[in-house]
Amino acid sequence: MNKDSGDLYVNREQTLVKHVILKGYLERFAHIIGSAWDTITYVDGFSGPWNSRSDTLEDSSFSIALAELRKARDTLAQRGKKVHIRCLFLEKAKEAYQRLRAFAEGVRDAEVVTLNADFEESISQIVAFVQSGGVRSFPFVFVDPTGWTGFAMDRIGPLLRLRPGEVLINFMTGHILRFIESPQGQTQESFEALFATDAYRNRIAGLKGQDREDTVVRAYMDAVQCEGDFRHVCPAIVLRSEKDRTHFHLIYATRSLRGVEVFKAAEKTAMKVMEQARAKAQQRSRVQKSGQQELFRSEDMHDPSYYEGLRNRYLTQACHLIEDVFRQSPRALYDTLWSQVMALPLVWESDLKKWIGDWQKSGAVEIEGLEPPEKTPKRDSKHWLIWRGQ
Ligand SMILES: C[S@@+](CC[C@H](N)C(=O)[O-])C[C@H]1O[C@@H](n2cnc3c(N)ncnc32)[C@H](O)[C@@H]1O
Repeated sequence: MNKDSGDLYVNREQTLVKHVILKGYLERFAHIIGSAWDTITYVDGFSGPWNSRSDTLEDSSFSIALAELRKARDTLAQRGKKVHIRCLFLEKAKEAYQRLRAFAEGVRDAEVVTLNADFEESISQIVAFVQSGGVRSFPFVFVDPTGWTGFAMDRIGPLLRLRPGEVLINFMTGHILRFIESPQGQTQESFEALFATDAYRNRIAGLKGQDREDTVVRAYMDAVQCEGDFRHVCPAIVLRSEKDRTHFHLIYATRSLRGVEVFKAAEKTAMKVMEQARAKAQQRSRVQKSGQQELFRSEDMHDPSYYEGLRNRYLTQACHLIEDVFRQSPRALYDTLWSQVMALPLVWESDLKKWIGDWQKSGAVEIEGLEPPEKTPKRDSKHWLIWRGQ
C-alpha cells in the first residue's frame, strides 16, 4: 500500500481497513517471530485476488503479507539473523487462481506454493505443509471467506490447534446477523457447523441490536478459543463505509500476550484509517447525490458519534470487567487486567493506563512491584494492583 493506495480502495473501504490491520500486524509479527524462529510459514486459505484493482496485486492480502514478511527478513538479515519464508496460498475460483499462480511464479526469493482448491477440503494438506517447515517454524493462518461457510469449526480444528500458531479469521458479522436466526434447516446446520454447536442460539435469544451482535461475536470467539485452546482472542470491528453498521470482525487468536499487544496496535491504527475512509466515502456519496462539492474537508464534515458511541460502550464494559476482577480479589496482576480489557474491541492500553493513573492519584489503587523510577505498571513485570476502594 503506497501513498496512492487510497484509490485502490474507493468503494471497498472495508478491504482497506482489513489490509491495514493485516499489514500492521504482520509488520511487527514478522520481526518478532523472525528474531526467535528460523522460519515463518504463512497460510492464506481464501487468497483471492478479489476485487483487486492493482496490476501488481498490491491490494491483495497475499501480496501485502509477502511484502511484510520480505521486509522483516531483509531487516533481520542485516543483523545477521536468517529467516526462511514459506507461503501457502489457496484459492478455489479458477480465474482468480490463474492470477494468484502467475503472481506466485514471479516470486524468486521465497517459497510460495499455491493450490487451486477448496479450503475446508485441504486442511490435511495445509497441516502437512506447515509441519514440513520443521520444528523451528512458526505458522500464521489467515481465513478470509466471503460468507460464513467453508470453514466449519470441526474442519479447521487441526489448524487452530497448531502449536505454535496464530490465526486471523474474518467473521462476516453483518451477513451472519441477517441469517443466523433463519428457520431454514440447511441454514441452521451451516451455522451449527460454523460454531461447532447450537449453543449460540440460546445465547442470542431475545437480544437485539448491539447486544445481539456482541453476543454472536463473543460466541464465535469462545468457539475459536475452545477449539484451538488459545489463551487470547481479540476482535477488531470493521464498519460499513456509508452506514453506521458493522460489516465484519477480524478475530485474532494467539497464545501470546505480546501477540495481543501487536494486534491491538494494528487495530488502533486501522481504526483511524477507517474513520478517515468512512468520512471520505460519506462525503463522496453526499456530493454524488447533491451534485455539489462541499466546502470543508471530509474529516471536518464527518459525524464520529457512531464510532465514539461504540468506543464508549466497550470502555464501559472494560470498567465493569475490572470491577469484577477486584470484586473477586482486591489484588490483581496488571497482566490479568490487561489481557481481559484488551479482549474488547476499541479499548487501548492507554485507556487502562489512564484509569490506573487516576485511581493512583485518588488513592483508590496502590501498585506493588514498581522499581524506581517506574511510576506506572507494565506487563511481564509482576506488577500487582491493590484496590483500596474509591
Ligand atoms: C474475501 S475474498 C479474499 C480476499 C483476500 N483475502 C484479500 O483480502 O485480498 C475470498 C476469496 O476466497 C475464494 N473462495 C471462496 N470460497 C472458497 C473456498 N471454499 N476455498 C478457497 N477459496 C475460496 C473466493 O473466490 C475469493 O477469491
